[in-house]
Amino acid sequence: MHPPILAPSLLAGDHAQLATSARIVEELGLPWLHLDIMDGHFVPNLSFGPATLTALRRHGIKAYFDTHLMLSQPARYIEPFAKAGANQISIHIEPTYDHADTLDRIHALGCQAGIVLNPDTPASAVEPLLARVDLVLVMTVQPGFGGQSFRAAMLPKIRQLDQWRSERALTFRLEVDGGIDLETARQCRAAGADTFVAGTSFFGAPDKPAFAAAFAQL
Ligand code: DX5
Ligand code: ZN
Repeated sequence: MHPPILAPSLLAGDHAQLATSARIVEELGLPWLHLDIMDGHFVPNLSFGPATLTALRRHGIKAYFDTHLMLSQPARYIEPFAKAGANQISIHIEPTYDHADTLDRIHALGCQAGIVLNPDTPASAVEPLLARVDLVLVMTVQPGFGGQSFRAAMLPKIRQLDQWRSERALTFRLEVDGGIDLETARQCRAAGADTFVAGTSFFGAPDKPAFAAAFAQL
């Protein structure tokens, strides 16, 4: 089982000072930063784009950029995000495009590649792609907004993906995103998740070192 990783979501940071928010994460020694990219079409919200990643790198942010593309046409944007400093690019399964080719292109651009499932999408939708990915991201809320409640109904999906992973000796990370706090992260960890996106709970935590330490014990 992979050791747990806490990936704070910058969506819950200060959008006028994103580098300052990213630095809070780095200063805690947390290697990952989750970047939520929204197009106002695949999801009903807008966030930021490749120029923001470039600017974060220019401000000296060294974190592993775990980039979650919530886009109707992700294949169009993988190259700009790779050039802007993404380390991993995760794409949704729901829109119609060539998923396998896009995952291969993400690898060819020197990034790790993830596939993402919305709450209503069954695990079987990504099954044929499992051998191609470095990460599977199970959305535990409908994507688009931070601050929503965790959907416990996603736990069987996490268990199924974890089971396929061990049966096939695969090594992808299993990430959860949406409504994650220490309690819901424990439930996801028990189901097989190893990578935990936390927006509201992280940036709202009064004692962030204690919050990060608790996740490290999961
Ligand atoms: C939702 C995003 C999440 C979001 C999570 O569309 O994919 O990464 O930032 O926010 P919280 O942790 O507040 O649910
Ligand atoms: Zn996300």
